[in-house]
Amino acid sequence: MDGNGRWAKRRLLPRVAGHRKGVEALRGVIRGCGERGITHLTVFAFSSENWRRPQEEVTLLMELFMRALESEVAKLHENHIRFRVIGDLSGFSERIQTLIRDAETLTRHNTRLTFTVAANYGGRWDVVQAVKQLLAQGATAADITEAALARHLSLADEPEPDLFIRTGGEQRISNFLMWQLAYTELYFTDALWPDFDAKTLDAAIASYRSRERRFGRTSEQVQTAS
Ligand code: IPE
Ligand code: MG
Repeated sequence: MDGNGRWAKRRLLPRVAGHRKGVEALRGVIRGCGERGITHLTVFAFSSENWRRPQEEVTLLMELFMRALESEVAKLHENHIRFRVIGDLSGFSERIQTLIRDAETLTRHNTRLTFTVAANYGGRWDVVQAVKQLLAQGATAADITEAALARHLSLADEPEPDLFIRTGGEQRISNFLMWQLAYTELYFTDALWPDFDAKTLDAAIASYRSRERRFGRTSEQVQTAS
């Protein structure tokens, strides 16, 4: 979700106004995914590198995160949405950690849409913590297979993503779900995150639909199989 700051700057507003508008955009995208039958949505809200931002902005982002947890979780639950957070939660305040745990427990049996927030998350961190878990279980070199490692990643129980969307004009993964994105279709848009709406979502989905996913096979093999 990139471009909140620029959205605000263009309007001569403080960056936090862009982040607030970004929360609104996210609400719309969650609704849009539900309406379109999408079963998994994972958003990158705060990377392990975002702590490097000015202290004031980090504090405001944490407040926004906390307020969103306080006010939105009941609505997610009403709409049968399962809520999860992935990342190193120890970086957050006790209050935020409690809100996250309570929200995950409350919504854990919901199946309409699994909505995951990556917070204090990094794709490299995820791989490293998976290896650490394996080693803690006494794994040897022979036990460290792709499948074993994948079972210990943060999104282990979820399908690999079909579509990755990055807003804000940058064409980078920026340490998001690196392992899981190996075969994901990548979509980059200049739209700033606060402007991302049903129309931009549909454009991304239309682009996804126009692609042929071969997973290493030839086009002829794929067409015969379908
Ligand atoms: C993304 O918007 C939101 C977070 C990383 C929290 P930015 O804050 O990166 O917005 P730009 O890139 O400065 O426009
Ligand atoms: Mg940015």
